[in-house]
Amino acid sequence: MLYIGIDLGTSAVKLLLMDKKGQILKIVSKEYPIAFPRPGWSEQNPNDWLGRSLEGIRELTAECDKAQVAGISFGGQMHGLVALDENDAVIRPAILWNDGRTGKETDYLNDVIGKEKLSAYTANIAFAGFTAPKILWMRESEPENFAKINKIMLPKDYLAYMLSGSFCTDVSDASGMLLMDVKNRRWSEEMIGICGIKKEMLPAIYESYEVVGTLKPKIAAELGLGDGVKVIAGAGDNAAAAVGTGTVGNGMCNISLGTSGTIFVASDTFGVDRHNALHSFAHADGTYHLMGCMLSAASCNKWWSEDILGTSDFAAEQEGITALGENRVFYLPYLMGERSPHNNPDARAAFLGMSMDTTRRDMTQAVLEGVIFGLRDSLEVAKSLGLEISRTRICGGGAKSPLWRRMAANILNLDVEIPASEEGPAFGAAMLAAVGCGEYESVKAAAEAVVKLAGTVEPERELVEKYEERYQKFRRIYPAVKEL
Ligand code: XUL
Repeated sequence: MLYIGIDLGTSAVKLLLMDKKGQILKIVSKEYPIAFPRPGWSEQNPNDWLGRSLEGIRELTAECDKAQVAGISFGGQMHGLVALDENDAVIRPAILWNDGRTGKETDYLNDVIGKEKLSAYTANIAFAGFTAPKILWMRESEPENFAKINKIMLPKDYLAYMLSGSFCTDVSDASGMLLMDVKNRRWSEEMIGICGIKKEMLPAIYESYEVVGTLKPKIAAELGLGDGVKVIAGAGDNAAAAVGTGTVGNGMCNISLGTSGTIFVASDTFGVDRHNALHSFAHADGTYHLMGCMLSAASCNKWWSEDILGTSDFAAEQEGITALGENRVFYLPYLMGERSPHNNPDARAAFLGMSMDTTRRDMTQAVLEGVIFGLRDSLEVAKSLGLEISRTRICGGGAKSPLWRRMAANILNLDVEIPASEEGPAFGAAMLAAVGCGEYESVKAAAEAVVKLAGTVEPERELVEKYEERYQKFRRIYPAVKEL
């Protein structure tokens, strides 16, 4: 049997075809645009996601025996608000996870409703990118659109709905809406009331590996796929990536260097840190996880290389960066504001410390280092909670860079394990599809059977020391420039 994993990302949808043994047969990627209509805003058209995904499935399955395709599942960019009217038409462009327009609503939730109550209802506090503040924003700023809402869903759930007709979500992605009681894996009546919506507007919640329906016959026929292809709930992209890198089991850690940067720690039991600095979400294997998320990670490198330097050859740009730990330039990676740990949509990026002898290479190095320093901020929070982390898996586009992986090992002082496949979310989604179709008895069993490691990057003592000194300076910059 064959399984399709669809990673609905921010810059592109990646589709992966996997056989029952976990062998990756083909990968296809289809890009779509992202709009920044105002500073700090970030939007996409859900119909682009659907159109490009359908094209992708066609291309992905072009040479395979289509009758063998048994299941499809998803890993999706999290927190986005997709609102449909009573005819299932998209009411307005989706407001994405890295959109910072909801400063006012986030403050209202945290300060007026209060962090304690939010944490009791949902295990989390409000962050600008989360879905609930966006619903409040729509109620306040676009009342005519708000009045039309019939269904509220997350990006990947729009795909599942269009492909199968099942109005569904999964526990990991729903955790990031600030509408779910994470501990009990059900909607929070209190949050539904606070947002002024009705429960019927929200999808049914499934575990990530559960079957939610089958492909609509018309779509299956158009794609040339057989009857009864199962659609499996899937997961938020970080939980899907965790599955795809084998980050399943208490204390396992994964970092993702994608458009966003995340540090993900799996936990068998539910837990919340005292300040809610890390997100407390459900995991795709039936357990829980803690996560820190920075809004701009590999996107900092993409912006710096493509928009500023005018090159897409990232590897060439990184060639010749050898003096690790010696750079005097610092870079704050807050191009879209920052989520973890600062929770400030108005934070902005900065370079600091240039002199007449600063080179282009130093600046590139500073960008790469600044992203890992940002991840270290979240790692420090995780450690302050008593979590013992000595190694991590790594995935995402940025993980392809040997230089960036080495920086990660030395700035985070962790063994960085490199999975044989970098396709974290798409691979994880295909694994969830396989579990849903009964190929493996659990997500853990699937991970043990199919995830392989390609190598480990170990920290180097001298570099760890140099970077420790640098990090202690880095962490003082944001508080110093915040007010500016
Ligand atoms: C996680 C988050 C991002 C997106 C990226 O909280 O907002 O990692 O899921 O797609």
